[in-house]
Amino acid sequence: MTSDTKARIALLRAEIERHNHAYYVLDAPAIPDAEYDRLFRELQSLEAQHPELSTPDSPTRRVGGKPLDGFAPVRHAVPMLSIRTETDISDAGALAFDARVRKELGLGENDAPVEYACELKFDGLAINLRYERGVLVQAATRGDGETGEDVTQNVRTIHCIPLYLQGCKAEALEVRGEVYMSRRDFERYNDQQRVQGLPALVNPRNGAAGSIRQLDPALAARRPLSFFAYGLGETRGWASPATHSAMLDALAAMGVPVSDERAVVRGAEGLVNFHQRIAAKRDQLPFDIDGVVYKVNSLALQAELGFVSREPRWAVAHKYPAEEQLTVVRDIDIQVGRTGKLTPVAKLEPVFVGGVTVTNATLHNLFELRRKDVRVGDQVIVRRAGDVIPEIVGRVASSLNTPYADISHGFGRADLLIPEVKHIPRVKYVHNFLMPRQCPICGSAVVRGKGEIEFRCTGGLFCPAQRKQALLHFASRRAMDIEGLGDKLAEQLVEQQIVRTPADLYTLGMTSVASLERMGEKSALNLLDAIERSKRTSLARFIYALGIRNVGEATAKDLAQHFGSLDNLLAADAQSLQQVRDVGPVVAQSLVAFLAEAHNREVIAQLRASGVHWPEHEQRQMTELPFSGKTFVLTGTLAAMSRDAAKEKLEALGAKVAGSVSKKTDYVVAGAEAGSKLDKARELGVAVLDEQQFLELLESA
Ligand code: IVH
Repeated sequence: MTSDTKARIALLRAEIERHNHAYYVLDAPAIPDAEYDRLFRELQSLEAQHPELSTPDSPTRRVGGKPLDGFAPVRHAVPMLSIRTETDISDAGALAFDARVRKELGLGENDAPVEYACELKFDGLAINLRYERGVLVQAATRGDGETGEDVTQNVRTIHCIPLYLQGCKAEALEVRGEVYMSRRDFERYNDQQRVQGLPALVNPRNGAAGSIRQLDPALAARRPLSFFAYGLGETRGWASPATHSAMLDALAAMGVPVSDERAVVRGAEGLVNFHQRIAAKRDQLPFDIDGVVYKVNSLALQAELGFVSREPRWAVAHKYPAEEQLTVVRDIDIQVGRTGKLTPVAKLEPVFVGGVTVTNATLHNLFELRRKDVRVGDQVIVRRAGDVIPEIVGRVASSLNTPYADISHGFGRADLLIPEVKHIPRVKYVHNFLMPRQCPICGSAVVRGKGEIEFRCTGGLFCPAQRKQALLHFASRRAMDIEGLGDKLAEQLVEQQIVRTPADLYTLGMTSVASLERMGEKSALNLLDAIERSKRTSLARFIYALGIRNVGEATAKDLAQHFGSLDNLLAADAQSLQQVRDVGPVVAQSLVAFLAEAHNREVIAQLRASGVHWPEHEQRQMTELPFSGKTFVLTGTLAAMSRDAAKEKLEALGAKVAGSVSKKTDYVVAGAEAGSKLDKARELGVAVLDEQQFLELLESA
């Protein structure tokens, strides 16, 4: 082993971690995926050749190690306490906290307002990350606050958690925060599970907690988790800034994920404003929160305030309406979706959950329904988070069985009930629910493909339900965002055969719209206006709006980013589709099938012809082209091709071809009689390829 290898390994680890941070924390990848993979493989292979240089903190260990028999206990150097929760969700909660703080600090009416750091209350699992001399050495759960469990292996699989801190070599620095699962990752994971007929996660919080306490780190690594820091544990050899907010800024500068949704405010009024501001955007956040947290910003004042019964006097959590509630199933209906999928939907006793009144909740499919064993009359937990469709999380107790009185855990923490009540045996066990053999809307045959979970109406666009749903989906906020095109309107447009495909929307005129029920001239104008505005969109929204089976919002974004233009996507085959992140054979097949339909291509062409447009190639093509982000300089004469031909080939592979050599040049291709550019390359240490190597590189791309 040479010291060069050691240095190369260190360099690779630092580079890979830097790119992890750019990708997972900043959401701004700096190199193409292919290049990242290359660095990763190089590191893996060096570590394999030199096992003595392999360390547990290497990024290669993020994929998960050996299964454990159990978790070792970890005694926290500084206890992990919890905070008082203000359950009064009105402004009064904030006012009461400020009043308590002022009283404790002996402040009078005329004294200045107290400064607070406001942040989100993340709904996940508390974790203590211990860094020694800048290296992550241990991760532990909270446990009882005094002693937690060592979950280091699993936490290492969380890509956004840095394995090394940038610019901090403190003897010890414990970062505390919440491990959580984003809604997108939760939905995506559950979709994948459901497609395979496997059990879905109950909610993101259980998903996060379950993954962290998973004894097989390889399984934990499959579950996509994230992390936000909100505080510190023990520190040694680190001088903390004087305020909580500055301390979080310092952590962020070290590469630790810290949420941007925070604010420093003054007085009770500032707290109330923050609570309201976040309430208004709660649904749009990419993750669940169950409230906000207020903390006295000055660490000196925090020390002065101290603790009471293991809770700090300087912090409080101020809640929002719960996203899970108990209610009763009144009926089970079948809904026909835009792709013909038949979904069992529970009709519920109306319940206020996640800020709105919910009367319907999805049961996803027959198998989920059976697994959860939900029937009419059952008491169930319904979850509504973000703007996703409300769903039945699970049955609490059957009306045939012992109902409500059996639930000893109390109300409000409905999610905690699930593990314990999941297997309540039924007194009478009969499956009283069957899928219909005919579409309840159009009467077409209902089929279930071999090995498939879903039942489908075969009516296609003959089925008014499918047409209506396709239209509603197309117009929905996260697709083309046509305000005012709601359920009733879509129904009329379809039933009166004014609109058959989404493209027909763009040919609607004043007369046909104004003649519809409950449609005055003013609303008609507004609708036409909204339709017109929707023409300017993004490629990702457009792909999503098409309503292709298995192509949700996240996949649509990945496709848009990968292909850069619709034409590229239209030209793709199953194999190239599978090059896209998270696109496997199932999704690829759905896309291929959709694009194989002449009818679908026609609708796409009509939409474009009617003026629907988006900026093409707006995203850098991160993954598609092998030389994206690379700069080449050509010099001398090549025997196999002209310089122009070489340039064209390189550009087609995503490279930039520059006229002169600089530090930014990645490769200089030197043909015969190369001149000063070659000298310059050598001087700057830029990689030089001779013609043979260049041809090989092109070949391998
Ligand atoms: S501060 C001593 N800040 O809520 C103060 N906690 O009881 C320690 N939580 O389980 C906690 N978001 O995991 C704090 N921004 C935030 C938080 C937060 C979520 C969790 C924490 C703990 C519970 C507090």
